Amino acid sequence: MDVEVASEPLESIEADLHALGLFEGDRLPEAFRDLPGAQDAAAGFRKLALLRPGAERRLLVVGLGKREDLGPERLRVVAALAVKEASRDEGRRIAWALPESPHGAVRAEALAAALVEGTVLRSYRFDRFKSRDPEDPAPPTLERLVVAAGGSATDLAEAAEVAHIAAEAVNRARTPTYLADRAREIAATHESLSVDVLGRDQLEERGMGGLVAVAKGSAEEPQLISLRYTAANAGAETLGLVGKAVTFDTGGISIKPAAKMEEMKMDMSGGAAVLESLAAIAELRLPLNIVACVPATENMPGGSATKPGDIISQLNGKTVEVNNTDAEGRLILADALTYCVRELGADRLLDIATLTGGVITALGSTYAGAISNDDEWVERVLDAAERTGELAWRLPLHPEYKELTRGKVADLTNSSAKRKASTIYGGSFLEEFVDGKPWVHLDIAGTAWDVGREYVGNGPTGYGVRLLVDLARDLAG
Ligand code: BES
Ligand code: ZN
Ligand code: MN
Repeated sequence: MDVEVASEPLESIEADLHALGLFEGDRLPEAFRDLPGAQDAAAGFRKLALLRPGAERRLLVVGLGKREDLGPERLRVVAALAVKEASRDEGRRIAWALPESPHGAVRAEALAAALVEGTVLRSYRFDRFKSRDPEDPAPPTLERLVVAAGGSATDLAEAAEVAHIAAEAVNRARTPTYLADRAREIAATHESLSVDVLGRDQLEERGMGGLVAVAKGSAEEPQLISLRYTAANAGAETLGLVGKAVTFDTGGISIKPAAKMEEMKMDMSGGAAVLESLAAIAELRLPLNIVACVPATENMPGGSATKPGDIISQLNGKTVEVNNTDAEGRLILADALTYCVRELGADRLLDIATLTGGVITALGSTYAGAISNDDEWVERVLDAAERTGELAWRLPLHPEYKELTRGKVADLTNSSAKRKASTIYGGSFLEEFVDGKPWVHLDIAGTAWDVGREYVGNGPTGYGVRLLVDLARDLAG
């Protein structure tokens, strides 16, 4: 999709649908006040009215609510509403009048970028596996978005690029080797990226007992995918990103119920977010150093699968009783966190994972759960979350939670009989593997799928890509 910035007034831009926001307390601009349909214009947030400037022309007036409540998130939402409206008439081109920024805190560029994100995310369709009746061709895709006033065209093209990458992130992957190939492809297109992949034998040799244990029941080869992005000088700090990529989570021997098990193909969302955000960061040439580690495997039952009660040894030497094979994410992340610090040289860590159903109970699809050992680091992550609308809410750590993770016969247990604070339990467990580095864990089980916001809908959301890119931009200064 082409994204352009125009300086002429909205009416003179060539488009199939023109869109204009209306704040509470404001009236429509003079030029539109007497158009057919103008009396329907309403300023309540998300209220829509379609005006008819001419037989061929359609002007959508979208309520923005109170001026002081306007921020990027509202623009993502109204941009998505305009896409929906445009598709009703097979429109391919939308022109938006950029709403005025309500106060100095929100930059016009950020608002324009949010319009672009909402438009691109909402226009994404995953229909390549749908057969088509030749009599009933696919609806046309959006080809052009013009934003009247504000932002530079490159900023907006970047926002479009990142949003597109976010939308595609989860639908690509079906197996660990697919993800590894994707990482190789990303690395091959950018000078600043290098890739390394370890398979089953190498993982065993190196003592990555967590990833090996989870992969034992699967015919698919597990892959530990690492990427190194170098775009700052060697003395600069290195950010370490870790993403859970369980390409299918059956639960293993502690098998999950059948209902909705098919959704567990999304259990690789964190890994996909890490890979694709690196692709975007490299594309934008952000000046910082990053190492990324994506442990990828299926979690399957089978004759050779790990059994409840088995004891394993993680890469850092800690032993774990695997009392529930469905608590597999923490086992593979544990090894990846250690690897990221000790082998790849990360100075600070962020992991992102669809780790617990508990976070859906606690925070729904609105916020990811954030857990951290470092107040400043988590603040920076939460700020990036706020800016991108990929929200996160901090949950506490406490020595009492740590007690829950102590094993009977091994150092740790991956799940306790007491069903307490499961999201925090997962975080507390991971903390054992970060070697004291500043670390943030994002549990995205609720935000990676079925969110239902206008611009992401009910499938995969690509949560994390825009957040990680924004964070990288912040760290790059
Ligand atoms: N992948 C799941 C978490 C999940 C649940 C993601 C729902 C998306 C939607 C994870 O591996 C899991 O099974 N977690 C268990 C842990 C429990 C066995 C300690 C859970 O949260 O129930
Ligand atoms: Zn899982
Ligand atoms: Mn599981």
